[in-house]
Amino acid sequence: MRLDKYMAESTQCTRSESRDLIRSGRVSVNGAVCKHPERQVSELDDIRLDGRSSTHQDFVYLMLNKPEGVVSASTDRRDTTVVDLVQAAYPRRELFPAGRLDKTSTGFVLITDDGAFAHDILAPKRHVPKTYRVTLDTPLTPEMAQGFAAGVTLADGTRLSPAEVTALSADGRTVRVVLHQGVYHQIKRMFGVYGAGVNALHREAIGGVVLDDTLAPGQWRELTAGEVAQIAAR
Ligand code: URA
Repeated sequence: MRLDKYMAESTQCTRSESRDLIRSGRVSVNGAVCKHPERQVSELDDIRLDGRSSTHQDFVYLMLNKPEGVVSASTDRRDTTVVDLVQAAYPRRELFPAGRLDKTSTGFVLITDDGAFAHDILAPKRHVPKTYRVTLDTPLTPEMAQGFAAGVTLADGTRLSPAEVTALSADGRTVRVVLHQGVYHQIKRMFGVYGAGVNALHREAIGGVVLDDTLAPGQWRELTAGEVAQIAAR
């Protein structure tokens, strides 16, 4: 591929920024400075920016703060999707959400183009914990907390694995829930067993990685390599 395309993809800059980098003499190919954006290169070439190896980025991993009303899908005929919010920055990537939040829910959605990673972290056997802040229409009761700890049986007979729930507010209506599996509408259905309704649901963390509180709804950033490893290692 062309050197400017390679640099744009490996450093996540635009094509014109990439051309500027090259023309200013900061890029070398196989030990020699190259100022020609059109130069053809391949993965076999040693391409460096400011003397540092610029390895081609194989996959993209994003932390998005999903706003309410956006659906956790790649495409949708009616609604804005989580991928619509980030796609412009990665026009050639086939991005998808690794795990879903309901349309009305908010918070951390991990978006990637790494199918093996997504499959791995979503596998039921892996139990990557997900942490949620939930607002209820009624206070948390000891019966709910004991039921969650033992493993709730849903109305359709599905037996869930144990989950943790703790009150965050004095009135007991704001709680934190940690799940170790992902069943459709899981939290709403778990509280539904006790006749409690969910007014708001926000995912705070996936594994040990906490959603940045500097990300406003709709904003996102790339995960660091350490964060990707931390989620994958669970
Ligand atoms: N449980 C739910 O009910 N909804 C979500 O979006 C996530 C977990």
